[in-house]
Amino acid sequence: MLKPFAERTHEKMKEVLYRPDAQGPEIHYYMIRGGKDKTNITVWETGTVGGEYIKTYGHYHIGNLDETYYISAGEGIVLLQKRIDNKDDEIEYFYAITVKAGDKVFIPSGVGHLVCNTGKIWLVTVDDSPVNFEEVDPVSLPGHADYEPVKKLKGFAYYCIEENGKPTLVKNPNYKIIPEPKWLTPEEYTQSLR
Ligand SMILES: [Fe+2]
Repeated sequence: MLKPFAERTHEKMKEVLYRPDAQGPEIHYYMIRGGKDKTNITVWETGTVGGEYIKTYGHYHIGNLDETYYISAGEGIVLLQKRIDNKDDEIEYFYAITVKAGDKVFIPSGVGHLVCNTGKIWLVTVDDSPVNFEEVDPVSLPGHADYEPVKKLKGFAYYCIEENGKPTLVKNPNYKIIPEPKWLTPEEYTQSLR
């Protein structure tokens, strides 16, 4: 029977890190997938790798698929980036949303997303992405997620770095067009969707 859990290793995360040669924990985050019915749970390791907060790989969705993340424990930053005409290295807007337990963030279809753990404890989220368990690797690399643009550009348009104990965003030079990032609370972000 298929195991519904998987881990994202340091080896794999090197593809998208600010400092790929830096030392890091063997596992950056853990995934338990139940799909739409049982939901999906993600658990982030704490700390930084080469100054960058532990983060998820980041992806876009294939097809028309939105998603909502519920923060269950800890605190972090949700990074969202929207491409211009689906050109991978041209970004229309970039949001950094500061979240903590109790918050939720709606991710519209087509918007790239990742989350980093800026707190001292595990960051835990629950999301409602569908999972097709008939796929080749539905738990670690579900088919609704497109990781390739992020892999190609070695991460998102900004890396979230710890500087003097605080999160700050550093541009990824592989992108051609990057707007200034917008820092938002979950409430401000929700307002902006209306
Ligand atoms: Fe997603």
